[in-house]
Amino acid sequence: MKKQKLITNKLPIVLAIDTSCDDTSVAVTQGWVVLANVIASQTELHQKYGGVFPTVAKLAHRENIQPTIKLALQRAKLGWPDIDLIAVTQGPGLAPALEVGILAAKQLAEKHHLPLVPVNHLEGHLLSPLAIRKGRGSNLNQQITPHLPALGMVVSGGHSQFVLVEKIGSYHVLGQTLDDAAGECLDKIGRMLNLGYPAGPVIEEFAKKGNAKAYQFPLPLTTTKDFNLSFSGLKTFAKNKLAELTDDGKKVLSQQQVYDFAASTQFGVFRHLTYKLTKILESYQVKEVWLGGGVAANIELRKMIRKTIKPLKLKVTYSKKLCMDNAAMIGIVAGNQLSTISHKPIAIDRQPQLTITSTAGK
Ligand code: KG4
Ligand code: ZN
Repeated sequence: MKKQKLITNKLPIVLAIDTSCDDTSVAVTQGWVVLANVIASQTELHQKYGGVFPTVAKLAHRENIQPTIKLALQRAKLGWPDIDLIAVTQGPGLAPALEVGILAAKQLAEKHHLPLVPVNHLEGHLLSPLAIRKGRGSNLNQQITPHLPALGMVVSGGHSQFVLVEKIGSYHVLGQTLDDAAGECLDKIGRMLNLGYPAGPVIEEFAKKGNAKAYQFPLPLTTTKDFNLSFSGLKTFAKNKLAELTDDGKKVLSQQQVYDFAASTQFGVFRHLTYKLTKILESYQVKEVWLGGGVAANIELRKMIRKTIKPLKLKVTYSKKLCMDNAAMIGIVAGNQLSTISHKPIAIDRQPQLTITSTAGK
């Protein structure tokens, strides 16, 4: 029987699904090891809207979900008899998008008589730095011992927060954004510069050719003692500065001005993150910094964090492949938190507003 597999000494093999936003992703994982991770991107579909259009995302998830599941199993070189449980993102995310993944997961759990684990997407981003890629050296039953307490930084298009991790499954939010997320801020300023959607990766490329000191973005929340973040002031600064530079839209920026603006924006956003990181590390002793979420793909952010924590002899851990939304991070959370297994998949529903401290199923 399937359920008995969970109490053997082999770590369970998880088929994980994430449809929280605009990417349909399915992964196969075992413990911390990622056996396959497939992402069907919808970026092109949403580009013309300048952001993610929820009903378009829902339709595309419906179209992509079955082929993505098939491809993930193929890439893992496994079939349904090898799978021990199914994991699915319960929230946070776009309600219509979450719904597609949850429905597919429930149907698969019933069809293959497998338990279903609801997973918090934010916990996925938080633990993504711990994932191990399947390779020559990776042992499938490999148990890792994270250096705890760790400080997790989740920096994505929907969230920006600092999380103290005392142990896996026990999280304390030390600070979070009071308005926009860091990625959202980059995307919104990128939109002002006509850089398309999502603008974060374009800003990173353009910034390499620009001067980060050309435009002095303000450093927010320096007088507050808490560790919260706020990006709306940076957005307002950008809007006003661009109005000034273009004489209220009558003039066009030169290409070099666009590069400089991209570099200055990026520096402004990351300086705010590293400033608050410094403040946290003055108050909390941690053994490691973990970085996850789409903005963690940015090499300059990693460099600035490394520079910030070097005097404390700390290192920053991230997964090069799993920064952006993906199902592998959902699989590793499920594979390491077997206590949340539900044998009644029908009871699991989407939770678009889920927070990291109300992790799914607890
Ligand atoms: O984690 P993610 O895929 O989705 C959310 O859960 O939000 O993050 C997407 C965000 C977008 O705002 C995108 O612009 C940003 O991550 N992003 C980047 C880079 N790649 C993606 N921001 C800066 N530099 C990048 N290279
Ligand atoms: Zn995400």
